[in-house]
Amino acid sequence: MTARNFIEAVNGQSVFPPPIWMMRQAGRYLPEYRSMRQKAGSFLDLCYNPDFAVEVTLQPIRRFGFDAAILFSDILVVPHALGRDLRFEEGVGPRMEPLAEAEIDDLAREGGDFHNRLAPIYETVGRLRSTLDPETALIGFCGAPWTVATYMIAGRGTPDQAPARLFGYSSPEAFARLLDVIAVRSAEYLIRQADAGADALQIFDSWAGVLDEESFQAWCVRPVAEIVRRVRARHPHVPIIGFPKGAGVFYGDYRVATGVTVLGLDWTVPLGQARALQKRGAVQGNLDPMRLCAGGRALDEGVDAILEALGGGPLIFNLGHGVTPQTPIAHVERMVSRVREASR
Ligand code: CP3
Repeated sequence: MTARNFIEAVNGQSVFPPPIWMMRQAGRYLPEYRSMRQKAGSFLDLCYNPDFAVEVTLQPIRRFGFDAAILFSDILVVPHALGRDLRFEEGVGPRMEPLAEAEIDDLAREGGDFHNRLAPIYETVGRLRSTLDPETALIGFCGAPWTVATYMIAGRGTPDQAPARLFGYSSPEAFARLLDVIAVRSAEYLIRQADAGADALQIFDSWAGVLDEESFQAWCVRPVAEIVRRVRARHPHVPIIGFPKGAGVFYGDYRVATGVTVLGLDWTVPLGQARALQKRGAVQGNLDPMRLCAGGRALDEGVDAILEALGGGPLIFNLGHGVTPQTPIAHVERMVSRVREASR
């Protein structure tokens, strides 16, 4: 069995020291990433060229020896493969043509080309699984329908996702159809990644934290539950990590309501609450990325508090969101050795 420690922890066993990886571990804080990015020309060329994507995925593994590699790609390749245009502007972020209500049913009709467009990504997953050390887990991923929809509707990242919330309330049937298309396609996308060798799958709901109770249920929980149901029908044992960032009190029911195996916690979740959540299964997280960026005592105390509160149960040590470009490499090394050298 590959990646034993990681898979055991994910499935609810206590492993100490816990396995560790970092969200957005391949990226601009690494000079070797910046140099590949220049060579590739554009961010999407990195994602769709298996030679580049394999290399960039492996960079943080070589440097830090993380217990898991995450496929190098982006959550927005799903709408891109559905025919929406997409570009990444240097220092600005993703840009898309804002989706009009009248275009939603065309998305659902988009048929044959979806998996052809994503084929290079499936190839990257296959090559990665055969290249990686068997003890290193390979994580595939997609965005949750709500988070993906926020970018499709606004055409860019927005501070409070107001355009998507407004769309959802103004045109509830059309919005439900949109979430449904994204969920169905994302499930297919994850199934293909698992077919190609991904050991675990993560669903990123980065903007889950801006919704009221009813819309959280309808727009975050329900579509993710649908993805989980579809993936499990084909891969009953593949672990699925749900990351509803900012879900706050809604974290309580999320695991049961969606069926995800692991709860990904952002750094605002109190460790006492995290411990209660850990009684029902593994948790992943939840160091504030700014503690990592700051280093020193802020980092050490943050790591120790998590190990102290959660080290006795099933834990995958991670940040509470992605590592930022300004983060010094020495701080990442320090975090990894502090976790690896911990004793209890
Ligand atoms: O190392 C990894 O984690 C794997 C690769 C990965 C990327 N994006 C690469 C990337 C993963 C898992 C993602 C997920 C993703 N993409 C999310 C969910 C996680 C989160 O951070 O909330 C979201 C919301 C996106 C959409 C996206 N992609 C944005 C908003 C941006 C611009 C902001 C930024 O951080 O640059 C991207 C670009 C992006 N995705 C980069 C990378 C390495 C930077 C691109 C560059 O090199 O300029």
